[in-house]
Amino acid sequence: SGKGTIGKIISKYLKFQYLDTGLLYRAVAYKFLTSKSIISSDKAIFFAKNIELEDLDNPELRFERCGNLASKLAESDKVRQELILFQRNFAHKKVGAVLDGRDIGSVIFPDAKIKFFVTADLAVRAQRRKEQYKKMGQEYSLTDITNKLEQRDKRDKNRKVSPLICMPDAIVYDNSEVSFEKLNKEIIEIVEKKYKSLKL
Ligand code: DC
Repeated sequence: SGKGTIGKIISKYLKFQYLDTGLLYRAVAYKFLTSKSIISSDKAIFFAKNIELEDLDNPELRFERCGNLASKLAESDKVRQELILFQRNFAHKKVGAVLDGRDIGSVIFPDAKIKFFVTADLAVRAQRRKEQYKKMGQEYSLTDITNKLEQRDKRDKNRKVSPLICMPDAIVYDNSEVSFEKLNKEIIEIVEKKYKSLKL
């Protein structure tokens, strides 16, 4: 839905560090895919425990196969527990952090000062994703991408642990139609207003 773009706009504006937490789950998936290990809970926990910040720089983490397996591994409570530590340590290393991910406002940082819940139409998301894959040299049909997105959304929203939910204190932002310039301006305006009203 463009949460990464929004996360980066905010972190640049506030001069805070930024973490795309989906990359953590993708990095665990990548370790399975490249080591050809049989998928097991113990191995997943081991991989999750040993994720380093540098692992997240790998462009292959954006591949469809990583995202798909990541969504399945993300159903494991034990994997999530390992990655919670990583996320909290990251955020506490410096003053101020922007994290994007499905459970940040609900589980990882329920007391976060500013929360966004970003949505976008499925068709728009599928088209954007198709273009991103194309840039990475991967071609998929729009139907295939739409189906995969739908499946993934369903899994992420219905899993037992830390499902994707919209918190009541989150600002809901629909990112379907917006150009980058408009998005940048709107997000900064919202953050500026909200940030000024906080008693930090
Ligand atoms: O945002 P993404 O597509 O990079 O995330 C990949 C998968 O990782 C997603 O389908 C579910 C999981 N994930 C999660 O469960 N919790 C997060 N905070 C981030 C990602």
